[in-house]
Amino acid sequence: MMRAPAEPGAIEGGGNLLKAVVVLCLVVVLAACSVGRPGDDETGQEIYQLLCANCHAEDLTGGLGPDLGPGSSSARQPDEFIELAILRGRGSMPSFSSSLDSEQVDRLVGYLREEQQR
Ligand code: HEC
Repeated sequence: MMRAPAEPGAIEGGGNLLKAVVVLCLVVVLAACSVGRPGDDETGQEIYQLLCANCHAEDLTGGLGPDLGPGSSSARQPDEFIELAILRGRGSMPSFSSSLDSEQVDRLVGYLREEQQR
């Protein structure tokens, strides 16, 4: 016996699946865009882990970028030095002036200072 042709509903179902895939892609793209833009209520530590830990290590001991922890050369520098490094970038370190406002930079410097006192 011959099979019945696909019902129209089956084709529509395919369309819905496509829509679901498109929506899913949009969600993924939007999520990717928000990476690197910390929220207003994020702590200095959270901002550090989000933006800096890749290169300076989660525990500040350095990697691609220099050690920022206790006894490091930046621990002996004034706050302005760290602020400038963050805002302008340094060597191969990118500038973060477009992703952080001055309050977030303050919180970040505060976090580094706290860790450097340990
Ligand atoms: C892509 C890797 C990368 C990221 C991300 C990064 N840095 Fe850096 N950072 C570096 C490199 C490399 C240097 C050394 C630059 C030079 O002096 O040539 C550096 C230097 C610094 C310095 C100066 C240290 C010194 O002793 O001269 C500070 C302070 C600093 N980074 C803080 C931060 C903070 C805070 C963040 C997060 C907002 C951050 N960095 C994110 C790579 C990075």
